[in-house]
Amino acid sequence: MELFEAIGSRTSKRDFEDKPVPREIIDKILKSSLRAPSWANSQPWEIAVSTGKTSEFIKTNLYELAKNCTPINPDYPFPDSWPEKQGNNMFETGRRRFEYIGINRDDKEKRTEFSLRNYVFFHSRTAIFIYMDENLGLWSVFDCGFLAQNILLAAHDLGLGACPQAYLVAYPDVLRKAFKLPKNKKFLLGISIGYYKKASKVNEIKTFRNEDVINYFE
Ligand SMILES: Cc1cc2nc3c(=O)[nH]c(=O)nc-3n(C[C@H](O)[C@H](O)[C@H](O)COP(=O)(O)O)c2cc1C
Repeated sequence: MELFEAIGSRTSKRDFEDKPVPREIIDKILKSSLRAPSWANSQPWEIAVSTGKTSEFIKTNLYELAKNCTPINPDYPFPDSWPEKQGNNMFETGRRRFEYIGINRDDKEKRTEFSLRNYVFFHSRTAIFIYMDENLGLWSVFDCGFLAQNILLAAHDLGLGACPQAYLVAYPDVLRKAFKLPKNKKFLLGISIGYYKKASKVNEIKTFRNEDVINYFE
Protein backbone atom coordinates (compact mmCIF):
# COMPACT_ATOMS: atom_id res chain seq x y z
CA MET A 1 0.00 0.00 0.00
CA GLU A 2 1.21 3.46 -0.81
CA LEU A 3 2.19 5.44 2.31
CA PHE A 4 -0.30 8.32 2.02
CA GLU A 5 -3.06 5.82 1.29
CA ALA A 6 -2.08 3.77 4.35
CA ILE A 7 -2.00 6.80 6.65
CA GLY A 8 -5.28 8.09 5.23
CA SER A 9 -7.21 4.83 5.37
CA ARG A 10 -6.11 3.36 8.71
CA THR A 11 -8.84 3.28 11.31
CA SER A 12 -9.19 1.58 14.68
CA LYS A 13 -10.96 -1.76 14.44
CA ARG A 14 -13.14 -2.98 17.32
CA ASP A 15 -14.54 -6.33 16.22
CA PHE A 16 -12.24 -9.23 15.40
CA GLU A 17 -12.50 -12.78 14.06
CA ASP A 18 -11.65 -15.57 16.48
CA LYS A 19 -8.59 -16.47 14.44
CA PRO A 20 -4.95 -16.36 15.47
CA VAL A 21 -2.41 -14.27 13.59
CA PRO A 22 0.69 -16.34 12.70
CA ARG A 23 3.70 -15.39 14.75
CA GLU A 24 5.77 -14.61 11.63
CA ILE A 25 3.31 -11.85 10.72
CA ILE A 26 3.40 -10.27 14.17
CA ASP A 27 7.18 -10.57 14.10
CA LYS A 28 7.37 -8.84 10.73
CA ILE A 29 5.19 -5.98 12.00
CA LEU A 30 7.19 -5.54 15.19
CA LYS A 31 10.67 -5.77 13.67
CA SER A 32 9.70 -3.21 11.06
CA SER A 33 8.07 -0.97 13.69
CA LEU A 34 11.27 -0.89 15.71
CA ARG A 35 12.60 1.50 13.03
CA ALA A 36 10.66 4.21 14.91
CA PRO A 37 12.76 7.22 15.89
CA SER A 38 13.58 7.84 19.55
CA TRP A 39 15.52 10.40 21.57
CA ALA A 40 19.19 9.85 20.55
CA ASN A 41 18.16 6.32 19.55
CA SER A 42 17.56 5.48 23.22
CA GLN A 43 14.87 2.91 22.21
CA PRO A 44 13.00 3.12 25.51
CA TRP A 45 10.25 0.66 24.56
CA GLU A 46 9.75 -2.94 25.59
CA ILE A 47 7.11 -5.13 23.98
CA ALA A 48 5.06 -8.08 25.21
CA VAL A 49 2.94 -10.01 22.72
CA SER A 50 0.06 -11.87 24.25
CA THR A 51 -1.50 -14.89 22.53
CA GLY A 52 -2.98 -18.26 23.49
CA LYS A 53 -3.32 -19.01 27.21
CA THR A 54 -1.67 -15.71 28.15
CA SER A 55 -4.40 -13.81 26.32
CA GLU A 56 -7.05 -15.92 28.04
CA PHE A 57 -5.52 -15.12 31.45
CA ILE A 58 -5.35 -11.40 30.73
CA LYS A 59 -8.84 -11.18 29.25
CA THR A 60 -10.46 -13.10 32.09
CA ASN A 61 -8.79 -11.02 34.76
CA LEU A 62 -9.24 -7.62 33.13
CA TYR A 63 -12.86 -8.32 32.27
CA GLU A 64 -13.63 -9.45 35.81
CA LEU A 65 -12.03 -6.37 37.35
CA ALA A 66 -13.79 -4.00 34.98
CA LYS A 67 -17.16 -5.71 35.24
CA ASN A 68 -17.00 -5.43 39.02
CA CYS A 69 -16.21 -1.72 38.65
CA THR A 70 -12.84 -2.15 40.40
CA PRO A 71 -11.14 1.27 40.44
CA ILE A 72 -8.49 1.47 37.73
CA ASN A 73 -4.84 1.99 38.68
CA PRO A 74 -2.90 2.66 35.45
CA ASP A 75 0.85 3.22 35.72
CA TYR A 76 0.39 6.53 33.89
CA PRO A 77 -2.79 8.13 35.26
CA PHE A 78 -5.66 8.76 32.88
CA PRO A 79 -6.61 12.48 32.64
CA ASP A 80 -9.35 13.58 35.06
CA SER A 81 -10.60 16.23 32.67
CA TRP A 82 -9.87 17.67 29.23
CA PRO A 83 -9.78 21.25 27.91
CA GLU A 84 -13.01 22.23 26.16
CA LYS A 85 -11.83 21.83 22.55
CA GLN A 86 -10.40 18.34 23.02
CA GLY A 87 -13.30 17.38 25.27
CA ASN A 88 -15.68 18.35 22.45
CA ASN A 89 -13.72 16.24 19.95
CA MET A 90 -14.02 13.23 22.25
CA PHE A 91 -17.71 13.80 22.94
CA GLU A 92 -18.49 14.15 19.24
CA THR A 93 -16.44 11.06 18.33
CA GLY A 94 -18.29 8.97 20.92
CA ARG A 95 -21.66 10.40 19.93
CA ARG A 96 -21.16 9.58 16.25
CA ARG A 97 -19.81 6.09 17.02
CA PHE A 98 -22.77 5.08 19.16
CA GLU A 99 -25.23 6.63 16.74
CA TYR A 100 -23.64 4.71 13.85
CA ILE A 101 -23.74 1.35 15.59
CA GLY A 102 -27.25 1.99 16.86
CA ILE A 103 -26.64 2.33 20.58
CA ASN A 104 -28.79 5.00 22.19
CA ARG A 105 -26.90 7.65 24.19
CA ASP A 106 -28.99 6.89 27.26
CA ASP A 107 -28.72 3.10 26.98
CA LYS A 108 -26.18 2.74 29.76
CA GLU A 109 -26.34 -1.05 29.72
CA LYS A 110 -25.43 -1.37 26.03
CA ARG A 111 -22.73 1.28 26.30
CA THR A 112 -21.17 -0.53 29.24
CA GLU A 113 -21.38 -3.83 27.39
CA PHE A 114 -19.59 -2.26 24.41
CA SER A 115 -16.98 -0.70 26.64
CA LEU A 116 -16.28 -4.01 28.40
CA ARG A 117 -15.28 -5.52 25.05
CA ASN A 118 -12.10 -3.48 25.37
CA TYR A 119 -10.94 -5.92 28.03
CA VAL A 120 -11.34 -9.00 25.85
CA PHE A 121 -9.30 -7.43 23.03
CA PHE A 122 -12.54 -6.87 21.07
CA HIS A 123 -12.42 -10.65 20.66
CA SER A 124 -9.03 -10.73 18.98
CA ARG A 125 -6.69 -13.52 20.08
CA THR A 126 -3.64 -11.28 20.13
CA ALA A 127 -2.61 -8.06 21.81
CA ILE A 128 0.67 -6.18 21.81
CA PHE A 129 1.64 -4.34 24.98
CA ILE A 130 4.16 -1.51 25.12
CA TYR A 131 5.87 -0.88 28.43
CA MET A 132 9.05 0.75 29.67
CA ASP A 133 11.28 1.15 32.68
CA GLU A 134 9.90 3.44 35.40
CA ASN A 135 13.03 5.63 35.25
CA LEU A 136 12.17 6.78 31.75
CA GLY A 137 10.20 10.00 31.39
CA LEU A 138 7.86 12.00 29.20
CA TRP A 139 10.10 12.10 26.13
CA SER A 140 10.32 8.33 26.11
CA VAL A 141 6.53 8.11 26.12
CA PHE A 142 6.67 10.23 22.99
CA ASP A 143 9.08 7.69 21.38
CA CYS A 144 6.76 4.82 22.29
CA GLY A 145 3.99 6.68 20.46
CA PHE A 146 6.01 6.55 17.26
CA LEU A 147 6.49 2.82 17.75
CA ALA A 148 2.77 2.36 18.31
CA GLN A 149 1.87 4.25 15.14
CA ASN A 150 4.31 2.13 13.13
CA ILE A 151 2.61 -0.99 14.49
CA LEU A 152 -0.83 0.30 13.52
CA LEU A 153 0.28 1.21 10.00
CA ALA A 154 2.25 -1.98 9.41
CA ALA A 155 -0.74 -4.06 10.55
CA HIS A 156 -2.99 -2.07 8.22
CA ASP A 157 -0.62 -2.57 5.31
CA LEU A 158 -0.83 -6.33 5.83
CA GLY A 159 -4.62 -6.25 5.90
CA LEU A 160 -4.93 -6.69 9.67
CA GLY A 161 -6.94 -4.54 12.02
CA ALA A 162 -5.68 -2.97 15.24
CA CYS A 163 -6.94 -0.79 18.06
CA PRO A 164 -4.66 1.15 20.41
CA GLN A 165 -6.19 0.91 23.89
CA ALA A 166 -5.47 2.73 27.12
CA TYR A 167 -8.15 0.52 28.70
CA LEU A 168 -5.86 -2.47 28.24
CA VAL A 169 -3.37 -0.98 30.67
CA ALA A 170 -5.95 0.14 33.25
CA TYR A 171 -5.06 -2.75 35.58
CA PRO A 172 -1.31 -3.20 34.99
CA ASP A 173 -0.74 -5.67 37.85
CA VAL A 174 -2.58 -8.28 35.76
CA LEU A 175 -0.14 -7.63 32.91
CA ARG A 176 2.95 -7.80 35.12
CA LYS A 177 1.70 -11.11 36.43
CA ALA A 178 0.94 -12.48 32.96
CA PHE A 179 4.33 -11.44 31.59
CA LYS A 180 6.27 -12.15 34.82
CA LEU A 181 7.55 -8.59 35.03
CA PRO A 182 8.81 -6.68 38.08
CA LYS A 183 7.10 -3.58 39.51
CA ASN A 184 9.52 -1.19 37.82
CA LYS A 185 8.14 -2.03 34.36
CA LYS A 186 5.33 0.38 33.55
CA PHE A 187 2.64 -0.17 30.94
CA LEU A 188 1.79 2.52 28.40
CA LEU A 189 -0.53 0.99 25.85
CA GLY A 190 -2.15 -2.21 24.65
CA ILE A 191 -2.96 -2.82 20.99
CA SER A 192 -5.51 -5.44 20.01
CA ILE A 193 -4.53 -6.82 16.64
CA GLY A 194 -6.00 -9.42 14.33
CA TYR A 195 -8.28 -10.27 11.45
CA TYR A 196 -11.17 -7.84 11.74
CA LYS A 197 -14.76 -8.47 10.76
CA LYS A 198 -15.23 -6.63 7.48
CA ALA A 199 -19.04 -6.65 7.75
CA SER A 200 -19.12 -5.23 11.29
CA LYS A 201 -20.55 -1.71 11.44
CA VAL A 202 -18.17 -0.58 14.16
CA ASN A 203 -15.26 -1.35 11.85
CA GLU A 204 -16.64 0.95 9.14
CA ILE A 205 -16.29 4.09 11.21
CA LYS A 206 -13.99 6.80 9.98
CA THR A 207 -13.48 9.45 12.63
CA PHE A 208 -13.26 13.16 11.77
CA ARG A 209 -10.17 15.36 11.98
CA ASN A 210 -10.04 19.12 12.50
CA GLU A 211 -7.68 20.73 10.03
CA ASP A 212 -7.80 24.18 11.63
CA VAL A 213 -4.91 23.15 13.87
CA ILE A 214 -2.48 23.75 11.00
CA ASN A 215 -0.96 27.22 11.07
CA TYR A 216 1.34 28.70 8.44
CA PHE A 217 3.56 31.69 9.03
CA GLU A 218 5.44 33.46 6.28
C1 LIG B 1 -3.27 6.58 23.53
C2 LIG B 1 -4.56 6.05 22.96
C3 LIG B 1 -5.44 5.37 23.77
C4 LIG B 1 -6.61 4.83 23.25
N1 LIG B 1 -7.43 4.07 24.05
C5 LIG B 1 -8.52 3.48 23.52
C6 LIG B 1 -9.28 2.57 24.30
O1 LIG B 1 -8.98 2.28 25.46
N2 LIG B 1 -10.37 1.99 23.72
C7 LIG B 1 -10.72 2.25 22.41
O2 LIG B 1 -11.71 1.67 21.95
N3 LIG B 1 -10.00 3.09 21.64
C8 LIG B 1 -8.90 3.70 22.16
N4 LIG B 1 -8.12 4.51 21.38
C9 LIG B 1 -8.46 4.69 19.96
C10 LIG B 1 -9.03 6.09 19.69
O3 LIG B 1 -10.34 6.17 20.19
C11 LIG B 1 -8.98 6.35 18.19
O4 LIG B 1 -7.65 6.33 17.76
C12 LIG B 1 -9.60 7.71 17.84
O5 LIG B 1 -10.97 7.74 18.14
C13 LIG B 1 -9.40 8.02 16.35
O6 LIG B 1 -10.00 7.01 15.57
P1 LIG B 1 -9.17 6.17 14.50
O7 LIG B 1 -8.06 5.48 15.23
O8 LIG B 1 -10.16 5.21 13.93
O9 LIG B 1 -8.62 7.12 13.49
C14 LIG B 1 -6.94 5.04 21.88
C15 LIG B 1 -6.04 5.75 21.07
C16 LIG B 1 -4.87 6.24 21.59
C17 LIG B 1 -3.91 6.95 20.67
